[in-house]
Amino acid sequence: MTSSTFSIRQYAGSEWSLLFQGAESRVYQGVFHSKPAILKERFKKTYRLDELDQKLTKERIRSELKAYQKIEKKCPDLFQNMCRVLHSDERNIVFTELTDTISVKEYFDQSSEEAINEMLKKMGEVVAQIHLCGVIHGDLTTSNFLVKQQHKQLDSLMDNVVIPIDFGLSSGLVNVENQAVDLYVLERAIQSTNPKINFNHLLDSYQKKMETDKINKKLDQVRMRGRKRLMIG
Ligand SMILES: Nc1ncnc2c1ncn2[C@@H]1O[C@H](COP(=O)(O)OP(=O)(O)OP(=O)(O)O)[C@@H](O)[C@H]1O
Ligand SMILES: [Mg+2]
Repeated sequence: MTSSTFSIRQYAGSEWSLLFQGAESRVYQGVFHSKPAILKERFKKTYRLDELDQKLTKERIRSELKAYQKIEKKCPDLFQNMCRVLHSDERNIVFTELTDTISVKEYFDQSSEEAINEMLKKMGEVVAQIHLCGVIHGDLTTSNFLVKQQHKQLDSLMDNVVIPIDFGLSSGLVNVENQAVDLYVLERAIQSTNPKINFNHLLDSYQKKMETDKINKKLDQVRMRGRKRLMIG
């Protein structure tokens, strides 16, 4: 255990239970200052040189913080449903927990084609909101969107709200090329697990929200490059 992990657990005075172990981080669930919280610990990778490891870890945490700050400042509509950053240090970041949520990955596994298509439309809008806000997510997968059932405004009907998380690979370098790559990564992630899903539902709503269709040409180029790379290996 690193000293920073130890200190954050002491500081928060809480038990953290492991939720998720990734290649780069461990995600814990607990309580922080009386709020249900999620702690993402970017542990030290022993196969990496110390200096490089520290630099990459710092960059990931900085990118995540910057994305949340930018979205909070510039895109309150998107930010209102997102989690809040409660604490960060050189290896850890603590968020409010988005309770009663499931990932889009889980949602796809348990939903009808019609419900999946509706979800794709919502995801397209959310990706467009992120891009319009001046952020490239960098790691759009079905695990990095959470779904929460909420009452519609002025209505008792329930509606699904889609919430993006995991901005550790994000950047502020917004251009059509990077937007297309963001979408391509998501398309590949969806097609590898759910080959029957029609990604065009997502693309159509993305373009509608962006009020332009210039992504189509770029996305074709990015797909072509991707295919070439696969052939060459
Ligand atoms: N604020 C949150 N509320 C509820 N659950 C969360 C929250 N943040 C993360 N999770 C859960 O933990 C999982 C992992 O979190 P996250 O995607 O941020 O980490 P990661 O994929 O390990 O990160 P990275 O790819 O940056 O190393 C998510 O897929 C989600 O299920
Ligand atoms: Mg993730």
